[in-house]
Amino acid sequence: MFSSLVVYSLLAIKICTVGAFPAYQSLAGLTREELDAVVRTLQYDPPPPPPGPLANDSAILVNDADHPYMSLQPGDQRGPCPALNTLASHGYLPRNGIVTPVQIVNAVQEGFNLENSFARFLVYSTFLVNGNPITNLMSIGDATSATGQNPPAPATVAGLDTHNNCEGDTSMTRADFYFGDNHSFNETRFQNFVTFSNEYGGGKFNLTAATELRHFLFQDSLLNNPTFSMVSPRLFTAYGESVFPINFFIDGRDTSGQLDLDVARSFFQNMTFPTDFYRRNGAISNEGYETVFNAYPIVPGANQGTVNSYKYDPTSATLSEPCKRYTTFVLRNIQSLYPNPTGNLREALNINLQYLFDATVAAGENCTQVFPYGQ
Ligand code: HEM
Repeated sequence: MFSSLVVYSLLAIKICTVGAFPAYQSLAGLTREELDAVVRTLQYDPPPPPPGPLANDSAILVNDADHPYMSLQPGDQRGPCPALNTLASHGYLPRNGIVTPVQIVNAVQEGFNLENSFARFLVYSTFLVNGNPITNLMSIGDATSATGQNPPAPATVAGLDTHNNCEGDTSMTRADFYFGDNHSFNETRFQNFVTFSNEYGGGKFNLTAATELRHFLFQDSLLNNPTFSMVSPRLFTAYGESVFPINFFIDGRDTSGQLDLDVARSFFQNMTFPTDFYRRNGAISNEGYETVFNAYPIVPGANQGTVNSYKYDPTSATLSEPCKRYTTFVLRNIQSLYPNPTGNLREALNINLQYLFDATVAAGENCTQVFPYGQ
């Protein structure tokens, strides 16, 4: 007969839970049968490798009969990314918004034709910050017990809504964290998107409108947000996201580069593909971002606690330093979240870090691999 102490010790050793057992539920008071049932769910599975590129990356109908839009159910997670929200609402991702890295890579490729190495870097960098390495689950929205038993602080297994390395300032349709809700669709900000599209794109969102809107958003945060920050990795995602609507939200049969504003609202606010929507023809990533950047170049930096006090941060990678981006992300961002991991947590982190580095190799970046937790 097991004493409760032994049972609890076993559970502590096998802290690597999967999502079936609610994260914040105490194990105390469970019967022996209930504990046995929990123990069966506590097996650690090493995270599987990400998929390669699509075999067929042509434009195809993605709002199809197999992927109907369904409205949210109570508890379903949605967050700051209009693409992931849409993929979940159409079943390319689990509709509850609790996802694995492999599911995200598959979904962004199948639903939008995002280029494979770019997708992998984005997914693993985001997952390492906001996901649960033990259960291999991440929320595309808020923190939730559905991602399983959390590793100890300072890890932040808190979903994409978390204001940290991934979610950041100057979003086009979401407010800066300093002003409150940083992840829900914000009509006032969307009206800026509309205004700039009307003024610079003849009523459509195009590269010129994207360029002018990004400059406006930078100035807006600079002058109104005392905590405004624009350092790597946010620097990279901010410029990528400026061109994502042009690269991915335009129907794949249309090569004009002009995004209709009703279609934009369909993604940003309603989290749904337009009727009869085809994904773009051929994989692509952030093409066009240099145009946006070069019109109004900036240095990485942040306000210093007051508005309009932006100071250059030489420790941040610039857009032309992808390897510095990788190295500082691992040695600074990840190590600060996981200073001294052991056991399965360390193994899971190392595997995910390997997948992150592999993405830089696939992108041809020739970076030197770093090993914060040994090889
Ligand atoms: C083809 C695939 C994707 C597209 C088209 C896309 C599109 C976008 C766009 C347009 C935004 C900006 C929202 C705004 O400024 O209002 C955004 C934000 C975001 N996306 Fe995605 N995304 C894609 C893939 C991903 C992936 C793979 C991840 C991570 C797993 C991700 C995570 C995020 C996050 C965290 C934000 C919030 C950043 C912020 O504005 O603060 N996205 N995405």
